[in-house]
Amino acid sequence: MGIRIVGTGSYLPEKVLTNKDLEKIVDTSDEWIVSRTGIRERRICSDKQAASDLGIKAAQRALEDANVKVEDIDLLIVATITPDMFFPSTACIIQTKLGIKGAAIFDLNAACAGFIYSLSTAQQFLQMETYKTALVIATETLSKITDWEDRNTCVLLGDGAGAAVLKKEKGDSGILSCYLDADGQYGDLLNMPAGGSRLPATVDTVKNRLHYLKMKGNETFRIGVPEMVNSVKRGLEGCGLKIEDVTLLIPHQANIRIIKAIAKRLSISIDKVFVNIDKCANTSAATVPIALDQANRQGRIKQGDIIELVAFGAGFTWGSCVIKW
Ligand code: COA
Repeated sequence: MGIRIVGTGSYLPEKVLTNKDLEKIVDTSDEWIVSRTGIRERRICSDKQAASDLGIKAAQRALEDANVKVEDIDLLIVATITPDMFFPSTACIIQTKLGIKGAAIFDLNAACAGFIYSLSTAQQFLQMETYKTALVIATETLSKITDWEDRNTCVLLGDGAGAAVLKKEKGDSGILSCYLDADGQYGDLLNMPAGGSRLPATVDTVKNRLHYLKMKGNETFRIGVPEMVNSVKRGLEGCGLKIEDVTLLIPHQANIRIIKAIAKRLSISIDKVFVNIDKCANTSAATVPIALDQANRQGRIKQGDIIELVAFGAGFTWGSCVIKW
């Protein structure tokens, strides 16, 4: 039996924020952002939208694509670093609104690698007799934790959600291997310092802007590139394939320079690498499933293709997933 992705969906909020718009907010330029990151615009959710609202829309599209009913879902995992609130989980909020019953339901925090970690987790569940159909959602409203006075980070981030429905099916298609890794010693390079039990919200934490995403971009870049290259290789080793076998590589969309550096080090043509960073920016856990859904709907994925997903993010966490479509 294979654990197959039988449907994908994604949702991007309507509001487009361009680099030109950002020029009015912080000391930056379209030229700097495009040349250093490849980003031209990003989507921003409305004040009323929370992570669950975006996730629900992506999930509904994935369920429709899969032709699966909510009654069939027996596992729901939501990857997010911007949950609606600390608890209950965003997964439980989505569960109620979608009407899922009698399922295992939880959030998973592996930052930008959240969708890969969630796919791998769903794969383990589905290998058990009792679980048959899983819904995996990655949803982020990064604009709500973005410091709009910090040009180092605010130009990089966007909002969006992606989802996939997984089923156990006969045949050799499905997830062939997953590779997961992490190194917590780098936690300080990319985090949101306050709001948790270490630094609960106070007037001072708000005044000191500690409820926003902080990143040391340069160091993150330096560690991210080799770890993503290594992840792609380890994923392929896990199922005895080579880079030449990969039809489409779908990397986390953090920076076009990172994506190009990975492609070069892996000797894979950039035509075989999916890129949407120009329009979507970095949506953390959601970048990979949004890209997967767009590739799927654009007809860039055919039955039998070998797709590899790879991501790297806060923690640091990283990993890859090789799928025979
Ligand atoms: N507009 C104009 N100038 C900016 C700017 C902006 N939006 N943001 C930073 N700068 C300036 C910096 O202040 C710095 O100026 P200085 O040299 O006078 O101090 C200069 O540009 C270069 O900054 P630097 O940080 O060295 O740029 P960079 O080439 O490393 O690019 C990132 C910055 C953030 C785009 C890049 O490091 C990156 O993408 N990092 C990794 C992100 C990532 O992998 N995330 C994965 C997990 S989500």
